[in-house]
Amino acid sequence: MQDLELTAEEKEVLAGARGPGPAKAMELVAAVGRAMGAGRLVPISSAHVSGISYANIGPHGLSFIREILEGVDRLPVRTTINPCGMDLDAADSWGLPREFVEGQKAIIDALSAAGAEPLLTCTPYRAGAGIERGSVLAWAESSAVCWANSMLGARTNRVGGPEALASAIVGRTGEYGLLLDRNRLPTHVVDAVVYLKDPSDFGLLGLSIGAMAGSGVPFVRFAVDQPEPSESDLLYMAAAMAASGAVGLFYAEGAAPPPAGGGWEDRASKVRIDSLDRAKGMLGNSRGAPDLVAFGCPHCSVGEMKEISRLLNGRRVKATTWVMTSRKAAERAEAEGVLDNLRASGVQIVRDTCVVSAPLDRLGFTKVALDSAKAAFYCPSHCGVEVIHSSARECVEKAVRGR
Ligand code: F3S
Repeated sequence: MQDLELTAEEKEVLAGARGPGPAKAMELVAAVGRAMGAGRLVPISSAHVSGISYANIGPHGLSFIREILEGVDRLPVRTTINPCGMDLDAADSWGLPREFVEGQKAIIDALSAAGAEPLLTCTPYRAGAGIERGSVLAWAESSAVCWANSMLGARTNRVGGPEALASAIVGRTGEYGLLLDRNRLPTHVVDAVVYLKDPSDFGLLGLSIGAMAGSGVPFVRFAVDQPEPSESDLLYMAAAMAASGAVGLFYAEGAAPPPAGGGWEDRASKVRIDSLDRAKGMLGNSRGAPDLVAFGCPHCSVGEMKEISRLLNGRRVKATTWVMTSRKAAERAEAEGVLDNLRASGVQIVRDTCVVSAPLDRLGFTKVALDSAKAAFYCPSHCGVEVIHSSARECVEKAVRGR
């Protein structure tokens, strides 16, 4: 393994020339780079910081963020933030404890004061964070990492939340893993010989692939009669494979072609998936009436909100129903009248947070119906709730029937 070489400027930052926060940040970025076998640090054009929900990191997380930002006037690169623990406009109606609300706002204030954009979404690329092909990022949100590497032509590792913030402070990340050509070749060729009817099925396929490929790079080939996947199909698949495994990059026939050459065809493992049953078994699907029906993991686009509105077709929901999205996408949907239709059906537009980032148990939910395999995979362990995973169409019917 090569030694990590820091430049003179990086050594100065490490020695405290720019203050205690940047020194701590450089120490963290260098330590991760060294542990991962990086030979040097490289500049990044963007950081995306996750792990900022007060429900998950509490007062210790807030202290860490304040400490590492000490002495930071302005983050040197564009920095966006993942969902937090609540819809900032719903703090009162959700009845969360004052300590929680104030702690969450303090986290966002600390990051915003340093220049981070509080997009509070896991789909920053849908909320105006334009990414140029070939750009190097330090993103910490597994679904966004998988999307950026696979569909946006960027390069980023699956960095942890603290590392992403440290990289945002020093504008650097270690050159290792998915930043290097040799680690971006397919390791598995997956023949998905199963018909996938909608994004929920693509999510199940993603769960199977992630569990099988681990931190590998799958190249997915679909059945010959499979219609071309939509953006939602691929995003649900990406998010799920990044949840059940540690996939940070995939290729998909027709949508994200694998690199030519490199000799990977002979070396890659060949896998055939002809059923979604294994993935369904990973979700421990519950039965009965959900007390929450939630759409938007990853956060809904305007098109996805339109589709939910179309499926509702003016009917009112009986179950509490969330459509989770970013403020930017909500603004666009508002302008197009989509939110009016959803609200008229009794749907709550939830921004800034999601089912995994919000304290569902404190909010009194026990059983959640979801069309997202990623959310269904995480919710039982992260939020202590039972899940019912089904298609968006079936979730809408459950919301309308209330059972
Ligand atoms: Fe996004 Fe939350 Fe799902 S961060 S990908 S909506 S678990």
